[in-house]
Amino acid sequence: MASASRTFTRALRTAGPNLRTPSARSARYAVPQYAFRAQSRGYASESEPKEKYEGNPKGMLWGAVGLLTLAAGYGLYRQKPELFGQEAKAKGPFVPKYEDYQKVYDAVAKKLQDEDDYDDGSYGPVLLRLAWHASGTYDAETGTGGSNGATMRFAPEGDHGANAGLKAARDFLEPIKEQFPWISYSDLWILSGICAIQEMQGPKIPFRPGRTDRDVSFCTPDGRLPDASKDRKHIRAIFGRMGFDDREMVALSGAHALGRCHTDRSGYDGPWTFSPTTLTNDYYKLLLEEKWQWKKWNGPKQYEDVKTKSLMMLPTDMEIVKDKTFRKHAERYAKDNDVFFKEFADAVLKLFELGVPFTVSEDQRWTFKSSFD
Ligand code: HEM
Repeated sequence: MASASRTFTRALRTAGPNLRTPSARSARYAVPQYAFRAQSRGYASESEPKEKYEGNPKGMLWGAVGLLTLAAGYGLYRQKPELFGQEAKAKGPFVPKYEDYQKVYDAVAKKLQDEDDYDDGSYGPVLLRLAWHASGTYDAETGTGGSNGATMRFAPEGDHGANAGLKAARDFLEPIKEQFPWISYSDLWILSGICAIQEMQGPKIPFRPGRTDRDVSFCTPDGRLPDASKDRKHIRAIFGRMGFDDREMVALSGAHALGRCHTDRSGYDGPWTFSPTTLTNDYYKLLLEEKWQWKKWNGPKQYEDVKTKSLMMLPTDMEIVKDKTFRKHAERYAKDNDVFFKEFADAVLKLFELGVPFTVSEDQRWTFKSSFD
């Protein structure tokens, strides 16, 4: 029996990290205890008067019955350890459930709260930018790119000019990946983008797992992400390639309510709104209501607000109010934050799922609880 326990213990000890779940661990520690209890029962019966066994058929019969009971008990213990107050042995590979992904969400949300000495007080915006740049390489025609693969981990893609500065987001997530090694980088980046949106008081974005990490050969060529110095034709070409229409392009741009430009990353400078760590429809309101002028500086062409000179708009942002169709949607979003949240959530969900070969159907998406729910 003791050797069976050892085999069981050894099997768990040599199992991969996925099998060594907390429940498996506690079962592992519980086995020797049970073995010890069984052994002490054995010693107790040995201490009974010897005559019972010597030439005493009744005693022998009871001995045999005792042994049979112990054997049957042990068999039952192996089959159904939960009946003995032990947790069941982990069977097969670890299959993470909703609760497991919610734990990852909670860990990212906590780290966002704890590490508030970055930029405007949150890594949220740069996490969202990481998820968007992982997804925004998608090409509908060839089915290449998209969030499946997390290929930005590799030098060619990580070094693309558009991805400058995203190392901060990838490094932020590394300890989370170490804590939950079963999640792919690709799922982690998207889940974290969702967490960032929700924790910055944006709408709920449903999530489906199923992205797998791919090797360097799946890196996309440079030039798939938008260039902020360009016009509406470029915006439509880039987002059209992913399968988005004008309305969705404008809805997605509302993400620029968050975060800021950095001179050492894109070369541009400053935030779009006065509350860069809270998602609102302020981006559209400011675009439409403020007066904007070219910033006079030694950097790339960008706009500044006339009144405070503390906010900025990229040339591509300004196209949103200059183009008639784009503007119509910007006006709708400026008027009604709920409409913006609804259409933004739908467009982000679509963006984050581009090109992912899910095995889970659309109606099986999960919505994570925010830290303030
Ligand atoms: C025409 C399309 C777009 C262009 C040209 C563009 C360009 C840029 C640029 C130049 C920056 C500044 C990067 C830096 O210096 O750190 C930036 C930041 C950002 N972008 Fe976009 N972007 C576009 C669309 C989007 C979309 C669709 C999203 C999300 C759905 C998004 C989310 C963000 C966020 C959250 C930041 C702030 C990052 C931070 O604070 O570190 N952008 N974008």
